[in-house]
Amino acid sequence: MHAIAQAQPNIALVKYWGKQDRPGNLPASGSLSLTLDSLWTRMAVTFDDALAADELSVNGAPATGMLKRVSACLDDLGGGSRPRARIQSECNFPIAAGLASSASAFAALVVAGSAALGRDLSALELARAAGRASGSAARSLYDGIVALVPAGDSIELESLAAPADWPLTVTVAVTQAGPKAVASGDAMNSSRDSSPFYAKWLDGQPADLAAAKAAVAGRDFAALAAVAEHNCLKMHSVMWTSRPALVYWNRATLACLDTVRALQRDGVPVFFTIDAGPQVKVVSPPEFATQIADALRATDGVIELMSSGLGAAARQIDAP
Ligand code: PMV
Repeated sequence: MHAIAQAQPNIALVKYWGKQDRPGNLPASGSLSLTLDSLWTRMAVTFDDALAADELSVNGAPATGMLKRVSACLDDLGGGSRPRARIQSECNFPIAAGLASSASAFAALVVAGSAALGRDLSALELARAAGRASGSAARSLYDGIVALVPAGDSIELESLAAPADWPLTVTVAVTQAGPKAVASGDAMNSSRDSSPFYAKWLDGQPADLAAAKAAVAGRDFAALAAVAEHNCLKMHSVMWTSRPALVYWNRATLACLDTVRALQRDGVPVFFTIDAGPQVKVVSPPEFATQIADALRATDGVIELMSSGLGAAARQIDAP
């Protein structure tokens, strides 16, 4: 009753920002994302009848804050009367800082948890379980470029391109260390309830998703760049116009956008996206990644850079 899994975070280019107003943590619209390669969460799950309660550690330290969501996800897989579990998570990048750590965590958890329970679930079943815990986590059950759409009382997913089909590099400019102020679930509900732009945002999602899917099918970087930047700025407009306002950006976030604009003026194929945090994710063909990293490193307020290609789906591993 023990298994280990690894999952990588994913970065959305057509964003998920808003839940349906019914149980199941269902997204209100579709999304499209890139599953990363070199950032990872490794999760070991051991079911043990001798334990009085579930135990969670993250990078070796007890993590009580996340335990409730993690236990609920294991209940979803094994039922409420399952044995208690020891869950040990290791993560090689900053947690809860707008780098999609919950996506890789819950994707790895469903793979390790179901394997430890002896359940043989399909990628779609695992993705649905991960999505009930964290909407974006469902996408990390698939490799490369991934589309997710709500369908009835569930979700459907597909991998649109394997990592080798369209190599891309994501360079992450970290502009602030430490966890974000507002968890994304609460923030989304606040946007739904208070932003005057929320309904309009949802109206535009099918067209943005279709444009992004067409860009991927045609390997059209300029078209993907255009829809991704537009979609990101629309999501942040919804965030900014929520009450209270959700402003995740800082000065360095904006400075990074200037850097991307300057690179674009120089003819570099590159675009930005930003999630519920101040970090800026910059996407380009791999051959431009060094030039882009140099420009971002020289940008005021950038404290660290991370770089990743596109990667594999969440999977069971033998040992880290
Ligand atoms: O799945 P959550 O609750 O971590 O929300 C993810 C929200 C964004 O990262 C901002 C957008 C997305 O589609 O990943």
